[in-house]
Amino acid sequence: MSTTRPLLYVSRLMPHAVMALIEERFRLVQDPTETSPTPAAFREGFARAEAAICTLTDIVDGDLLSSAAHLKILANFAVGYNNIDLDAARRYQIVVTNTPDVLTDATADLAWALLLAAARRVIEGDTLIRSNRWTGWTPTQLLGSEVSGKTLGIIGMGRIGHAVAQRAEGFHMVIRYYNHRVNPALPEAWARRSLDALLQESDFVTLHVPLNSETRHLIGTRELSLMRPAAILINTSRGAVVDEAALVHALQSGTISGAGLDVYEEEPMVHPVLPSLKQVVLLPHLGSATMQTRVQMGLICLQNIQAVLEGRPAPNRVA
Ligand code: GLV
Repeated sequence: MSTTRPLLYVSRLMPHAVMALIEERFRLVQDPTETSPTPAAFREGFARAEAAICTLTDIVDGDLLSSAAHLKILANFAVGYNNIDLDAARRYQIVVTNTPDVLTDATADLAWALLLAAARRVIEGDTLIRSNRWTGWTPTQLLGSEVSGKTLGIIGMGRIGHAVAQRAEGFHMVIRYYNHRVNPALPEAWARRSLDALLQESDFVTLHVPLNSETRHLIGTRELSLMRPAAILINTSRGAVVDEAALVHALQSGTISGAGLDVYEEEPMVHPVLPSLKQVVLLPHLGSATMQTRVQMGLICLQNIQAVLEGRPAPNRVA
């Protein structure tokens, strides 16, 4: 790196420990805030910076990258990078990196939080007390679904799917998974299935695939109709992996019994019917939202930026 601190664009305020390092090592094109930058500010950031950190809701298309005359590296503060036009980045020789590994546990934990909350009607119970309507224990109150010993179907057996499966072993669950690649290192008891067989066999289905042209609306009307009427769908991957309108219809018609969702097709918009469905648990994209994980994600972005600006290969390069 040259002696003048390089110009960095950061699209959102990061945790304090990350901001402190950023301010020590870089000059900022703009001071980031908690909210999305305006399109003009975003464009200006890309036009001036030598390195940029953006988030999963920032759409980085070819047009934006074509105006990024000085940009050498774009570090996406996320493991998923469906928000970035990778072909364009390659065309303009801009390195793109992500933040794998450090968010695996946090995201797997959150998938489990949703699964347990949806199965055991945690939100309905909490609401009952807060609304002062609880009149006392009864044998039939808020009966949920048993989790222990049931079948968990994992769609996408990558790092996060694997971590979800490991946690399921503690619940003595039968593990089924759908994955393109065969991985002989997985425990034999975890059985690989076709998508249709997995949907038919599982009590809980949890999604852990990246969003791309093959996985957009992977779960639609046909797939939901294959699921068991008592089944619960969990999504902590990307909203558009599920056809949200089809999911709403399946929940309303009893095709499946519940859902736990952390992600939505048009974030921050949520299908208007979803909040009215009591068998659905809704979180605002919190998969990696622990202080430890978010700091680690920021540090990984900075490691990748530092490497590229010093002429070294980026450790987490995706394009
Ligand atoms: C979160 O959704 C991520 O991709 O990191």
